[in-house]
Parts: sequence; C-alpha cells; structure tokens
Amino acid sequence: MAKTTNAYACSECGWQAAKWVGRCGECQKWGTVEERARRGATLARTVAGAAPREEKRARPITELSGNVAHHRSTGVLELDRVLGGGIVPGAAILLSGEPGVGKSTLLLSVAAHVAGQGARVLYASGEESTGQIRLRAERTGALHDSLFLASETDLATVLGHIDQVQPDFIVVDSVQTLASDQIDGSAGGPSQVREVAAALIRVAKERGIPVVLVGHVTKDGSIAGPRLLEHLVDVVCHFEGDRNTALRFLRSLKNRYGPTDEVGCFEMTGGGISEVPDPSGLFLSRGAAPVSGTCATVMIEGRRALPVEVQALVARSATPNPRRVTNGVDPSRVAMILAVIERRHGVTLHDQDVYVSTVGGVKLTEPAADLPIALAIMSAIQDLALPHTVAAFGELSLAGEVRPVIGDQQRHREAARLGYIHVIAGGTETLGQASQAAGLGSFLGRE
Ligand code: TYD
Ligand code: MG
Repeated sequence: MAKTTNAYACSECGWQAAKWVGRCGECQKWGTVEERARRGATLARTVAGAAPREEKRARPITELSGNVAHHRSTGVLELDRVLGGGIVPGAAILLSGEPGVGKSTLLLSVAAHVAGQGARVLYASGEESTGQIRLRAERTGALHDSLFLASETDLATVLGHIDQVQPDFIVVDSVQTLASDQIDGSAGGPSQVREVAAALIRVAKERGIPVVLVGHVTKDGSIAGPRLLEHLVDVVCHFEGDRNTALRFLRSLKNRYGPTDEVGCFEMTGGGISEVPDPSGLFLSRGAAPVSGTCATVMIEGRRALPVEVQALVARSATPNPRRVTNGVDPSRVAMILAVIERRHGVTLHDQDVYVSTVGGVKLTEPAADLPIALAIMSAIQDLALPHTVAAFGELSLAGEVRPVIGDQQRHREAARLGYIHVIAGGTETLGQASQAAGLGSFLGRE
C-alpha cells in the first residue's frame, strides 16, 4: 500500500493530516490547519551529524562565563518592577491584554519616558493614525522630540522605519495588525503573526534594540495567533483590569531576565495612565462608623500584599430560589462557606438572598478569602459590625476549621502597617472562635 504523506499540519499544536480540515483534530482550534511547505519533506529526511566548529564546542558549564542581563530603567517604576528592574537590550517583550484595557495608553507613556532619558524611540501603530496618537500624547503629556510615530500596517515599511529612525527602543502596536505581502494569509492570521513577530524579534536581537509587541487576547483569554508567539519572545506581560474600574494590573507571565511573580499597579485617569506605587487604600471603604457585613482582609498578588474589603448583604428572599450574587469572589467558594455556616451554626439561609462583593472590583480568588467572606456574611446576618481594627484571612475547611494560608507573615505585616490591630488568621481553631475573636459573639450560640 502506498504510504500517505501528511501534507497538512496545525500551526498551533503540530497535528498532521493527509487532507485539509477546518478544525484541528488535536487542539480543536478552527482554521489553524495549513498546507506544509515543501521544505517539510526535506526536513523529514535523516539529518547527518556535522562536527561543530572549535569555538562552538560544548564545554563544561563551570568553564563558561555567564551573560549578565543589564536592566535599564524605563522611568516607569511599576513597569520596571514587573520586568525585573527594567528593559534588557535586545529583549523582545509581548504585552497582551483585552481591547480597551489601556495597552496603547501605557506604551505611549512608557515610550515618552524612555525618550525623556535621551533615547530615540519608534512607536509604530497599525491601529491608530499618527494624528490620533499625537492628540492622545498631548492630553497625557507624552510629547517628546525623540519619540517618532509611524502609522503603518506593512511589515516591510515598519522595518524601513527602523532603518531610518535608528531607534534605541521600538513599540509595535499591534502585532496582529501588521502583515507582509511575502507571507500567505490575512493580517492577524497564525502565519502572518508568527512571521511578523519573528522578523521584529530578529531586528531586536541583531541590533540589541528592545522591542515591545502588543498582542490582543481573544475572549477566552489566550493571545490571538499561535501560542508560538509566547515561545518566541523573552518576556510576556499581561495587562488586565475591569473596564468599569480605573485600576489596572500588569503581570509578567514569562520572563527570561527576572522573576514572574511581580505585579505592577496602574490607574487609568482622564489624563492618561498613572502609577500606583501604594495601592493600599484602593480596595477599602473605611467610613466614619463601622458597617455590618464588611470585613477587611489582606490578599497576596504576586509578591505584593494588598488590603481588600469584602462586603456581604443578606436579605429575605421574595422568590422560592434565593439569589446568590457574587462580584470579585468565586461563587462556588461562597456556596461552600454558606453551607458551612448553615450546617455548623444552625442558621437557615435557604430563604435569604446573599450578595457578596469586593470593593473596587478587585478579584479575590485565593483560599485565604474564605474567612473574611464568612465573617462578612455572619456580620450581615446578625447586623453587627466588626470593629475597624479587625482584619481576617484564612482558609475554611468543610468541618468549619480555619486553616493557615501561604504568605501569613507578609499579610500580618501589611495589616499591622495599616492599623489593623486585631488580625484573625489560621491558627484560630474554628469559625465560631474566629467569630468570637471578631466581636460577633460565638455566633447564635451554636458551635
Ligand atoms: P487604549 O490604550 O486605547 O486601549 P488598548 O490599546 O488596550 O485597546 O485605551 C482605551 C481606553 O482607555 C478607552 O476606553 C479610554 C481609556 N482612556 C482613559 O481612561 N484615559 C486616557 O487618558 C486615555 C488615553 C484612555
Ligand atoms: Mg490599542
């Protein structure tokens, strides 16, 4: 029988097929199966070994000297923090984020800061006209003589701009809008995105110029275009935030030059984007008098401890199916906490609507949020406020025990810094004891 050759392959996962199909049989993505180039056939032949040149010879690791990455500050300290100290020459950085989150605004500000340090910066945009960008720069104070703008969607022309401007720093917004007529497929398609990114990264590496590529994310949160993009670049940063609030977080998901657990905080304002070096006050709504149904906690974001306030409201339900509405917290976690309170404390909640939310729309998904959520709900049920000085964090077990969580010490330090002198955390044995420590009594007397 004649051997069938797999002439088609998925650009995402490498799955091969003899015939073209619309959907990959492996990763189930649509439109990623493409005809493999002819060179694929030559690659399949056996590769003979070739003797490496003397200077390329593999050596014991102890005989080699390391390349030290020299980080250069961008002037935007929150970005420097995420990048591990600044930008490394020749680094390829991918900035991903949903449309409208503020990627262009952030990068224009970064570009202006870098230009302000005497560097030549090229900002190439395939999304906006130079007029639009100039207007925004005027509004946000990002005008600078050595910041060069180009509005361009053709890859070759962008490379031409790089030759002409001879920049020290390049921003390309976005990698999905650039295309080359040498490559098949439409702009934003897997092959175009891959080749465009590869061409720009080559420039970065050859000339030692750092380049930032903007990448849009699809609705499911992955970076549009092939995952390969993430492998090509040195650093992947994700910019995120709720569009209804002004706060934005910048996280590094991959960093060849530094740690990946740092978070940068920014705020979108009418006058552009500004850094938030101390976000401690943002998620607290400390009024003059304590209000029932609220509990302060300290969450850990990357390496940062952030104080957050949890709010709960418990009200008689008018429907047979009471509502469980959550905002910023995990609904299944809340359901579990409600069950623990019902079961362990003999409270009936099946005729009550329960609303739980965080202040400022921050996402509080770690297990440490269990205890503050529980205390907020218990405070709401009793209509008894916790004192202003109380903060809590801890994981709740189904047996109603409070368990310690990671980052305990850091959370305690941050809580103390902000004046929470009564901190209830793991180590308190049960939810009933935690409730007592928080001033809510032993909670309906059942424990
Ligand atoms: P933008 O940077 O264009 O987002 P992206 O490049 O990620 O698509 O930002 C778009 C949003 O930011 C827009 O809805 C308005 C808001 N914005 C501000 O709040 N303040 C500002 O100074 C600017 C320029 C934009
Ligand atoms: Mg944009």
